[in-house]
Amino acid sequence: MASIQSRKVTVVGAGFVGSTCAQLAAFKNLASEVVLIDVLEGRPQGIALDLNQSAAVEGFQARVIGTNDPADTADSDVVIMTAGRPRKPGMSRSDLLEVNGRIVATVAEYVRRLSPEAIVIVVTNPLDSMVSLMRHCLGFPARRVIGMAGVLDSSRFCWFIREETGAAVQDVNAMVLGAHGDSMVPMPNYCTVNGVQVADLVKADRMDAMADRTRHGGAEIVGLLKTGSAWYAPASSAVAMAESILNDAQRLMPCACLMNGEFGFEGVYMGVPAILGSEGVQRIVEVPLTAEARAQLQKTAGAVQNDVEALRDLGLM
Ligand code: 2OP
Repeated sequence: MASIQSRKVTVVGAGFVGSTCAQLAAFKNLASEVVLIDVLEGRPQGIALDLNQSAAVEGFQARVIGTNDPADTADSDVVIMTAGRPRKPGMSRSDLLEVNGRIVATVAEYVRRLSPEAIVIVVTNPLDSMVSLMRHCLGFPARRVIGMAGVLDSSRFCWFIREETGAAVQDVNAMVLGAHGDSMVPMPNYCTVNGVQVADLVKADRMDAMADRTRHGGAEIVGLLKTGSAWYAPASSAVAMAESILNDAQRLMPCACLMNGEFGFEGVYMGVPAILGSEGVQRIVEVPLTAEARAQLQKTAGAVQNDVEALRDLGLM
């Protein structure tokens, strides 16, 4: 991985998630160049100029480049793919399969050609099938094509635990595995407040209610916003993954990885605990699972495979 002075992060899509990713990447000085690319003329350029004009106040050295030209993304170390339509109320993430699948395929074409060594983090929904499609189109090793959502879903679970217990949020840890959809798998036995099991702090029905609210965390925000979906927590999650990769921090983060026998699954992307470092996914951590969690992961794999089949029927894979 290049030194911080010559690192380049590209964010694809200058919507709310993408522009917040660019902002966080710049504020954290993750790279010397943060490229924000979108098909809309003027929007990435305007956001980049606005962000650069906050540098004197915030004191960051990164330069944000707004562009419509894929050539400006060449030799990126990390690409964060956020482009795509968001959900509207009543839509499932899978309703976005065709429209977002075509966008992913277009972006993959230039990332493969221009940034062949990049590590790609996919945020576009439906997450697990979009990351499968991205990997298929890129042909990169699976360790370099990763889906975002486990960090987001776990962070949502953390917030609900904080609200329920009153614990300081930085002491709360939670884990959500599986797909980023209705079949996601909150893992109550991996939720702690500084090592104390949350299950010892709250009643079982409250734990179930928090897990359920986590499962529908994205839809709850879509319902409130009415147009568009969440962006702050999704962007924070994607940038935290990029940070672990760029700094070779080896953080354990639940994210969508291609299964190669882990947990008994093969050839399917799903959210699992993974160590993220300079190679991308350094290692998948096979934590012990209850029989219930194992059955739920089986369901998740089926849901992702259905979406992947639909992408094949559309001729995208
Ligand atoms: C969410 O869960 C955007 O899918 C994302 O909010």
